[in-house]
Amino acid sequence: MAISTTSNATRTTTLSNGVEMPILALGSAPLATRDDDTSHFNPLDSFNGFLPEQSYQSLNSALEMNNADETPIHIDTALYYRTHPHIRLVLGNALATGRKKRSDVFLTTKIFHPNFGDSFGTEDLGHCMPSFHNEMTYDDVYRFVYRQFQQSLHEVGVGYFDLTLLHWPGHPDTDEARNSEQRLAAWNVLEDCYSKGWTRAIGVSNFSEHHLEQLQIMNEAKKKENNNSSVVIRPHVNQIEASVFLQHRDILDYCRQSNIVVAAYSPLGRGVLRVTSNETVRRIATKYDIDAGKVAIKYLYQKGYGCVVFWTTKPERVRSNHEILVENCVLDDEDMTALDGLNRSDGTGTWGLLSPYVIK
Ligand SMILES: NC(=O)c1ccc[n+]([C@@H]2O[C@H](COP(=O)([O-])OP(=O)(O)OC[C@H]3O[C@@H](n4cnc5c(N)ncnc54)[C@H](OP(=O)(O)O)[C@@H]3O)[C@@H](O)[C@H]2O)c1
Repeated sequence: MAISTTSNATRTTTLSNGVEMPILALGSAPLATRDDDTSHFNPLDSFNGFLPEQSYQSLNSALEMNNADETPIHIDTALYYRTHPHIRLVLGNALATGRKKRSDVFLTTKIFHPNFGDSFGTEDLGHCMPSFHNEMTYDDVYRFVYRQFQQSLHEVGVGYFDLTLLHWPGHPDTDEARNSEQRLAAWNVLEDCYSKGWTRAIGVSNFSEHHLEQLQIMNEAKKKENNNSSVVIRPHVNQIEASVFLQHRDILDYCRQSNIVVAAYSPLGRGVLRVTSNETVRRIATKYDIDAGKVAIKYLYQKGYGCVVFWTTKPERVRSNHEILVENCVLDDEDMTALDGLNRSDGTGTWGLLSPYVIK
């Protein structure tokens, strides 16, 4: 069957502050698990840490690609993933030899990760909120998150990020009053870093509509109370887990109405959910003569996700997944409806992470 085409293949999404964000991002969170990960599991039980050394080849492969139409290569990382030094090495080499300019790369990182369980021994490194986070005041959190941001710049070896996100809205065992105040303190750090030009855009991750609405109201109230004339900034991006099995239509609708771009992570269900083995996804892939992973990614983009963040250990897949930026394949209405039908409302659509709705 012939592929439908459109003459203006889109490669970037414009954020509310005018920054152009590339719609496809290579992630860098190579997770190690204790068991084979073929079942639906609780990550708090099964994560065994990260294998950041697995990221070298994929990062290198991404930076070796030619930038299509000058579109920067988008790399997604987080202080928590321990891959900042790996990005520093691979990117540093490309910059040192003149193969790339800083503007050829769009760097997204994340800070403010709560301490879920033992945090793989990273607590003393400042990768997570400390275990006594329940006692931290607004000022404590502000100082802690500010240090995390500076540590991130230092680890990656750059002077600015393109996008910095709050990794999680808080801790699932912490009450709403405490979580919401800590979110505000962390967000005020990002606003300050943004105003200084240390990050070109700021956003959040794993936030529900409620977290976003509440953050806006609390931020406006606090600035008014303190006669603080600095601008209240609404997040430019909300990065959430999304796939054909976990479509998060309510968060997507809310964010689009509020001019917040939604980025989808784990579009392939991290392999655990076997998205690319699904019969409907495979049938549509055959129809368009593309691989099933591209159907899963393309679906999210056509639904309105402004960015899709995938991971692969295979350098050739870094390149082939990026082909959707230049292939003018458009899934037709019938196929989009069939993929809409794969959404699971029973909570099994995630590969194991916490739902944004679980955190108060
Ligand atoms: N904000 C957050 O809280 C958060 C949470 C989780 C993840 N993330 C970000 O999102 C990134 C991606 O998430 P993820 O690793 O969980 O899941 P993912 O991208 O959904 O899945 C990765 C798996 O998909 C396979 N794959 C890649 N391309 C494929 C294709 N075209 N066809 C078939 N299989 C393909 C890879 O296998 P091979 O290695 O064999 O190619 C790998 O096992 C992370 O690296 C991280 O940067 C963010």
